[in-house]
Amino acid sequence: MAGANIQLDGEGRLRHFLTTDGLDRRILTEILDHAESFAVVGDRPVKKVPLLRGKTIVNLFFEASTRTRTTFEIAAKRLSADVQNLSVNLSSTTKGETLRDTLRTLEAMHCDMFIIRHASSGAAHFIARQVSPHVSVINGGDGRNAHPTQALLDMFTIRQHKPDFASLKVAIVGDVTHSRVARSDIHALKTLAVQEIRVVGPRTLIPAGIETLGVQVFNNMEAGLKDVDVVIMLRLQRERMRSALLPSEQEYFRCYGLTEERLKLAGEEVMVMHPGPINRGIEIDSRVADGERSVILQQVSNGIAIRMAVMAMIAGGKRGAA
Ligand code: NCD
Repeated sequence: MAGANIQLDGEGRLRHFLTTDGLDRRILTEILDHAESFAVVGDRPVKKVPLLRGKTIVNLFFEASTRTRTTFEIAAKRLSADVQNLSVNLSSTTKGETLRDTLRTLEAMHCDMFIIRHASSGAAHFIARQVSPHVSVINGGDGRNAHPTQALLDMFTIRQHKPDFASLKVAIVGDVTHSRVARSDIHALKTLAVQEIRVVGPRTLIPAGIETLGVQVFNNMEAGLKDVDVVIMLRLQRERMRSALLPSEQEYFRCYGLTEERLKLAGEEVMVMHPGPINRGIEIDSRVADGERSVILQQVSNGIAIRMAVMAMIAGGKRGAA
């Protein structure tokens, strides 16, 4: 998707964070390295650093979210910023206000950063083009397009366990068609030069032509899992399906559910990941979700460190430029 350069300032520093598409390895690695230093803040008795003191961050969520909204909020607070949460579907837009007017109103309150989640693909890019020069936008998930902080927290979690990206085989399994996480993960994995990226799922849930992103498509779960080092499971995103793309959830689990039995086909040290929320018994068996190969809760914790890193880099970049 175009618009990668809108993310960087004149000196190549992060200005907005909208998509992993088009960001180079240097920037992605810088975010991961920064997150490393922020991860330890969570282990301290006083979980705060003063980097964003005096800044106002608005969580502008037009779509439901639990972990993304909460971890952005915790991350901003750990950086000492003031945070305002706004669930817009419950307020102005229901009164007919346009997105542009909502933004202008918030800008008039002197906000410095917007975290945007929206059901429409492209919403975060749209907003980034509207805001004043001192305001930054972070995409917290737009339609089926991108979810860059999720991808980076996934890369961070992988790197903690398996630092040599070039030797990895990664399978992304399930509803790829409706998944912004899958797209952002694929771009990040590609940029970090992962050896092999597979997408696994039924034909109805794998977008046509996805091979052009540099992935291999498997419609057979067993073949797709064979010898992989990392499995990223995706939720069946029924809220984004316009028609019935599956016979039934039971049938889906029978063919594509991640069970202990199937996991044996993967590499011995396989990591099981899922962005959440998980549908137990639909895409993943509880024994696997709660099992020793699962890093699902580590992903949630790492989300805080990654979001701190992104916000601090954006704020630091602007300070340096001033
Ligand atoms: C994902 C999302 O919202 O895109 N969840 C998340 O951010 N933790 C994936 C999903 O909803 O299935």
